[in-house]
Amino acid sequence: MKNLSQRLSAFIAVLTLLAFSGIAAPTTAQAQQVNPTEQSVTEEQLFNTLKDEEAVSGRVSIPDKQAAGLIKPGNKSWAGTHNGLVRTLTIVAILGAVIGLALFYMIRGRIRIDGKFSGMRILRFSAIERFAHWLMSGSFVVLALTGLNLVFGRIIILPWLGEGAFSTLTHWGKVSHNYVGWAFMLGLALAFVFWVAHNIPEKLDVEWLKQGGGLFKKGVHPPAKKFNAGQKIIFWSTMAGGAILSLTGLLLLFPGVQILGLGAEQADWHFYQLVHGLVAAGLTFIIIAHIYIGSIGMEGAFDAMGKGDVDLNWAKEHHSLWVDEVQANQIEKITPAKGTQPAE
Ligand code: HEM
Repeated sequence: MKNLSQRLSAFIAVLTLLAFSGIAAPTTAQAQQVNPTEQSVTEEQLFNTLKDEEAVSGRVSIPDKQAAGLIKPGNKSWAGTHNGLVRTLTIVAILGAVIGLALFYMIRGRIRIDGKFSGMRILRFSAIERFAHWLMSGSFVVLALTGLNLVFGRIIILPWLGEGAFSTLTHWGKVSHNYVGWAFMLGLALAFVFWVAHNIPEKLDVEWLKQGGGLFKKGVHPPAKKFNAGQKIIFWSTMAGGAILSLTGLLLLFPGVQILGLGAEQADWHFYQLVHGLVAAGLTFIIIAHIYIGSIGMEGAFDAMGKGDVDLNWAKEHHSLWVDEVQANQIEKITPAKGTQPAE
């Protein structure tokens, strides 16, 4: 009798254990033995029980039936793959650009104006062109930093900042990312309209490229119009990369909404996310090089976007054919620098 009662209590204990460690039943065949409405289960338990292709779904009365999807472990394994690829390429892009430019600076130094400052200025970009540039570039920097936080924040910033501050930072970073994207798209569109005509590839560009744009040898200045071949590469990379980032960004911002015939299926969103991350990394690489050459890398270059005008000797060295055009057509664009006597 005692033996029977012992066995009974052991049986009940096993049943209780099974009941408490049981996993709630999703809509799939695999976990039908448990019921999520009868007991609470942790997210981790669900993840461990469900296979990649399985999901926990609810019911929705709105037209978008995809909104019923609640938990899908496949998305988590996808996130691992995505993070791995995007993280690796972003690290390679940023470190590659920074190390490459540091080496370039050590070997070549700052590219100086060979003919020294002339004391004459030539108008290069109007206020509206500079506004477009700074709108596009300022917003790009915000997007890049908030995007980088999404990819690396948990690894780099979380341990240093702690959970509370990191979650506040990431929340506002995500909100900024969603809204600042609009400013970027506007800046990108304006820059395209203002500069596309000057960025059509020409025969001249091949010669410029063959001579490495004179970047690697002092005193070498291949002729160029308003934008040289290097700048045309920056321009088209920004336009193509910016357009892809904008499109995939919108598809991710409005899941399920069709844009240019894309975006209806949940299965495709992973692809847009991957493209968004990889293109962002590639464009960041190019833009780091651009920022370097437009600031510390080349004497006199920043003025073009800072003040709008540049020194005439700088312009003659880097954009000789453009200076010829301006001199032939609009001589009033060339003026003495404030407070300086023009050099002989
Ligand atoms: C934040 C630091 C930046 C600085 C200091 C900077 C500086 C400059 C300068 C000086 C120019 C005019 C070059 C010339 O006179 O020929 C320029 C042009 C341009 N910038 Fe930026 N820029 C910055 C960021 C960006 C960003 C983030 C983007 C794109 C998202 C961008 C895209 C462009 C494009 C497309 C042009 C015209 C083509 C070219 O000159 O390469 N810039 N920038």
